[in-house]
Amino acid sequence: MKTLIVCYSWHNGNTKRIAEMIHRKTGYDFCTIETVKPYPAEYRKASDQGKKETETGFKPEIKKLPYDIDAYERIIVGTPTWWYTMAPAVLSFLDAHDFTGKTVVPFMTNAGWPGTVIKDMCAHAKGARIEHPKEILFDSDGGNQLITSEEEINAWIESLDC
Ligand SMILES: Cc1cc2nc3c(=O)[nH]c(=O)nc-3n(C[C@H](O)[C@H](O)[C@H](O)COP(=O)(O)O)c2cc1C
Repeated sequence: MKTLIVCYSWHNGNTKRIAEMIHRKTGYDFCTIETVKPYPAEYRKASDQGKKETETGFKPEIKKLPYDIDAYERIIVGTPTWWYTMAPAVLSFLDAHDFTGKTVVPFMTNAGWPGTVIKDMCAHAKGARIEHPKEILFDSDGGNQLITSEEEINAWIESLDC
């Protein structure tokens, strides 16, 4: 199945790290979602802004992807957890596309408070068939230590290559 990996990553690149693991193992095309206006580099400021945006369902403007998603049958979409839901940039991406006839594989990284990220991603992947959703845990300090085992992540990646 022709597959594209798309993710947004801000804080530590945790989500991008998982996307790169998938890319290395499968060779699927891979790109990141970038906002036109970058978030503040300072954690507290980004966190406060993220709180307001997730509460209001704000969709930041995102840059055009280097790949045309219409050319793919399956899109693997990754997001960090922001205030118990997906990052606003991923909401912008999902709401900008119609996934009818496509499969979406949602994955997320979190620090122990996963909220409703996967459920919310599924609700916004309009028309998609959802397969192999995955939650991946990093340390509870919001750092870059992977808690979910690499073995578990690799098994999930292998299950995608069907
Ligand atoms: C604005 C913001 C809000 C966050 N909210 C949550 C949360 O609600 N639950 C949680 O488990 N982690 C939360 N985190 C932690 C991140 O989801 C986690 O560290 C993630 O792996 C970071 O991925 P990234 O490095 O790809 O951005 C938040 C981080 C930020 C920056």
